[in-house]
Amino acid sequence: MRFGINTLDDVAVTDKTVLCRIDINQPVDQTTGTLKDTTRIEACIPTIRELSDKGAKLVLLAHQGSDIEYKNFYTTRPHGAVLSRLLDREVRFIDDVCGPAARDAIRALRPGEILLLDNVRFVSEEQTLFELKLQLSPEEQAKTLLVRNLAPLADLYICDAFAAAHRDQPSLCGFEQILPSAMGRLFEEEFCAISSLMKRPERPCLFVLGGTKINDAFLMMDRVLQDAVADRVLAGGLAGQVLLWAEGRDIGEPSRAFIRKQGYEALVETGRELLAKYGDRIETPVDCGTLNNGERREYRIGDIPQDALILDIGTETATAWQERIGTAKTVFVNGPMGVFEDEKTEKGTRMIWDALGGTPAYTVIGGGDSITATKKYGKTGFINYICTGGGALIRFLTGEDLPVVRALRHGSAIKQKE
Ligand code: 3PG
Repeated sequence: MRFGINTLDDVAVTDKTVLCRIDINQPVDQTTGTLKDTTRIEACIPTIRELSDKGAKLVLLAHQGSDIEYKNFYTTRPHGAVLSRLLDREVRFIDDVCGPAARDAIRALRPGEILLLDNVRFVSEEQTLFELKLQLSPEEQAKTLLVRNLAPLADLYICDAFAAAHRDQPSLCGFEQILPSAMGRLFEEEFCAISSLMKRPERPCLFVLGGTKINDAFLMMDRVLQDAVADRVLAGGLAGQVLLWAEGRDIGEPSRAFIRKQGYEALVETGRELLAKYGDRIETPVDCGTLNNGERREYRIGDIPQDALILDIGTETATAWQERIGTAKTVFVNGPMGVFEDEKTEKGTRMIWDALGGTPAYTVIGGGDSITATKKYGKTGFINYICTGGGALIRFLTGEDLPVVRALRHGSAIKQKE
């Protein structure tokens, strides 16, 4: 048991029907029905292999995309094929989540066999909207269709989805209310590594923020600066733009409109409060990259043309931040500096990742885009810790007890039947 949660060493799985929630959420090419990346699938292989080797009748539950981000909302069928290839053993797939077909397939499992169910978010109760609007109590989670239909067929629940540990949804928090539970090897590794690191980061400790999902980033900034976990925050990506706006700098109407469209305008006020409290420890970009007729143009903040959209940090900013990364002892990075998929707007991200690859500091990156950038710039072997979770890592760093961690503690206290 670690942090009040059972590990795989604490539970009996042989001949047991085990529900195992994994996070294999990956970018999908829907025209070819293939996955653009398989990092998260690779990361949960040790848990799956161990459970199957020990003779569990293994049922895998996973989500893919979400209904509010429809481009990646897709079946988990291609994930099953990748799992089969990586494990070099059959992984059955059924295009059902908790209906009669899925339940029959679960009942038919023999020890060591593996079954992957379809995208759990095809079941409406599982939708991401839970996160935004509805909050179910633990008792209510246990009454959801998914839990009602699958829990009676299972002996044990295992969660290996650290990347989704901030989501309060039935497949993640419901089964622990009634089934004995444990965390998988990936969850254990990620949760324990990040927990220990946060307690004693070597200083100076630098946080580099980027990306476009910044809801929790502001909460996290407050926390890590207040607790002095972070000595300094470098804010790129959308967080940097919101903070520039909060500083009263003119970032141009297209960037302000984009921030409004993402629903982040309210963060400008939060940004003002953060700057008032910790202004000397938060750095915003001094210049930025934009596209003009398809060509990269850089401007100092304050000189941005009114029709230009900020798509990257500028070279002067990236150079100064490279130096900060080079002299830090611990560096956390979450999210790219801009639109790094396009070669015209990748320069800031590439320079930051070059610095990460060369610094003697202990480096930690988190999240899907950061992992993609790490691969793109050939830095995988040079980053000390790569966490599959992006949103989960940020939420964890806010100091909040993650919903799945809470639920797993509850399920760890439920005794297994002989
Ligand atoms: C992620 O990609 O961060 C996790 O898989 C959680 O996905 P979500 O943000 O759609 O809940």
